[in-house]
Amino acid sequence: MKLSDCHNIADFRELARRRLPWPVFDYIDGAADDELTKARNTAAFADCDLVPDVLAGAAEIDTSLTILGRRSALPLILSPTALQRVFHWQGERAVARAAEKFGLWFGISSLATVSIEEVGAMVSTPKLFQFYYHKDKGLNRSMIERCRAAKFDAIALTVDTIVSGKRERCARSGFTSPPRFTPSSALSYALKPRWALDYVFREKFSLPNLDTHVAEGTGEAVSIAGYFNTMLDPTMDWKAAERIRDDWGGTFALKGVMSAADARRAADMGFDAIMISNHGGRQLDGSRAPFDQLREIVDAVGGRIEIICDGGVRRGTHVLKALAAGASCASGGRLYLYALAAAGQAGVERAIALLKDEIERGMRLMGVTRVDQLTPDRLRWR
Ligand code: FNR
Ligand code: LAC
Repeated sequence: MKLSDCHNIADFRELARRRLPWPVFDYIDGAADDELTKARNTAAFADCDLVPDVLAGAAEIDTSLTILGRRSALPLILSPTALQRVFHWQGERAVARAAEKFGLWFGISSLATVSIEEVGAMVSTPKLFQFYYHKDKGLNRSMIERCRAAKFDAIALTVDTIVSGKRERCARSGFTSPPRFTPSSALSYALKPRWALDYVFREKFSLPNLDTHVAEGTGEAVSIAGYFNTMLDPTMDWKAAERIRDDWGGTFALKGVMSAADARRAADMGFDAIMISNHGGRQLDGSRAPFDQLREIVDAVGGRIEIICDGGVRRGTHVLKALAAGASCASGGRLYLYALAAAGQAGVERAIALLKDEIERGMRLMGVTRVDQLTPDRLRWR
């Protein structure tokens, strides 16, 4: 199987599975507990159907829109995800360059393996920084200052991780950042020599946005659960969120809002956006899917704050359904991560190209020429 055999996100997932040592694949693919929420995030899109208009003259279409004050070529954001250097040696650079090529928003994680400064200098397309609220307040201040200096366009504060989800695949594999060769996983690395050679001989792994402040940034092996549970501040509350927004002073989103009450509070506080998200099912298993929860939130705060539907997106039509149900746009992580792991920048570009093609085809077949024509009356719920 090779890159040209990948025709959808599931194909990239399969190629990634073949190319990665299983502890790394399971870190990307896995979720919390029984992984019910992860499965539901995608399955939810099948609970409604698109109703097309025909003879609508939709030969020429425009997929662009304004997201968080910046133009985007597609109604899709590449969500921030950690540790990309581990998935492919090109890491965040590959995702940043692919996003720029297609004119999309993308995010880097606090646990990115490329620095805020390098990403800021590298791409002109809009970029957001995903902020983890650490116990170390000096680290929090430094990340905000660095984002400002590097001219990031937005900060998204992740609010669904005051404790780590129970990721059983990672517990079994002993996955750490950076990967550590344990007796149970050594064979899996040896069986994927291409990955192992790239990992060992290419640029050394680091977490450059943390390493001025914490040992984990310098390459000490730590489990992600261990990192969350020791480094992040579980006392984070609305006051803390407001302080971060005020310190930053720029475009600000909350990532991981699920309830209509929280959405209202975010809108009342003047935040720019909420990402409806359950962290790709990696935190609270049994939590509702973003797409299931979208209409309730649109009813509560639609028009007052931008609403990003994050998670489960694997198809262009999923993006169209999210828009029709009232989202400002959709976002996703695994939709480009499998492709990154499978083939680096070329993989991410192919994944975005496939989704772009699906979005365009879907709009034509729906008989709409602009994304704002996707309205609730174009959906029927089963
Ligand atoms: C994530 N996600 C995530 N979110 C975040 O706020 N900070 C982070 O560092 C990460 N890291 C991360 C790593 C991996 C491997 C995955 C799969 C996800 C969550 C991410 O931003 C997004 O919310 C989910 O990926 C959405 O679900 P889908 O699109 O993967 O189904
Ligand atoms: C994860 C992180 C790091 O979901 O947010 O693994």
